Amino acid sequence: MKCALVTGGSRGIGSAVCQKLAEDKNYHILINYQGNQEAAENTLEKVKEFGATGEIIKFNVADAEDVKNSLTAWQDANPDAVVEVIVNNAGITRDGLFMWMSHEDWNNVINTSLNGFFNVTSFFMQKMLRNKYGRIINMVSVSGVKGTAGQTNYSAAKGAVVAATKALAQEVAKRNITVNAVAPGFIRTDMTGDLDEKELVKLIPANRFGEAQEVADLVGFLASKKAGYITGEIININGGIYS
Ligand SMILES: NC(=O)c1ccc[n+]([C@@H]2O[C@H](COP(=O)([O-])OP(=O)(O)OC[C@H]3O[C@@H](n4cnc5c(N)ncnc54)[C@H](OP(=O)(O)O)[C@@H]3O)[C@@H](O)[C@H]2O)c1
Repeated sequence: MKCALVTGGSRGIGSAVCQKLAEDKNYHILINYQGNQEAAENTLEKVKEFGATGEIIKFNVADAEDVKNSLTAWQDANPDAVVEVIVNNAGITRDGLFMWMSHEDWNNVINTSLNGFFNVTSFFMQKMLRNKYGRIINMVSVSGVKGTAGQTNYSAAKGAVVAATKALAQEVAKRNITVNAVAPGFIRTDMTGDLDEKELVKLIPANRFGEAQEVADLVGFLASKKAGYITGEIININGGIYS
């Protein structure tokens, strides 16, 4: 059984990615989430509507023990399953000016995006190298390439994943494993639900927020066999806000 794991696959961009990979029908979809069970179940239903199979795996990407225990239990129960695609998508924001930023808001954001990438990817790395095939796609952000005021923690976390993407890509390219990052601008999801869209679109050349589906289409291509010569890339998808 060939699998694609999407962290934070229950809602927003992650859910759209699960559905896109289901539509492409190459993989059994592993939908990770940490809190919202109902959203994860909805995504699984949609995956099945595309005629694909999938299952939900609950763990907190920021918690190394939880990741290891959950994925070990899953792999033990599915010894023949091979994870060929990892989409490190789980992420959070805890915005605020740096001068007021608490240790907690700093650590939570770094632990989710950066340590989440490490905890999940490292679990599968040796298996992927033995299998001599893999696609790793990291969801970063325009904040991680440009830096965004009020998001020093988030910019640092995503920027670190940008650098890790480039480094790991060079380590594993010989084994047919690609490592790329996708850097969205403003995408309409729960994460951006509280933003003043009317004001912010004035900054966006395309004059609109992006849709999760549009990000998912890009991830779907990077996850496919066709994208085998693209690696170490950070691909912006932001309506022209930054290039
Ligand atoms: N929306 C944007 O404009 C935008 C722009 C640039 C980059 N991004 C990035 O794109 C990714 C997805 O964003 P989104 O807008 O789709 O966010 P979202 O709507 O808030 O959804 C976040 C998803 O991540 C999961 N999650 C959060 N923390 C987790 C943890 N510790 N362990 C496991 N799962 C966790 C959530 O699961 P639960 O349902 O269980 O909470 C949910 O499925 C994030 O990495 C974000 O930084 C988003």
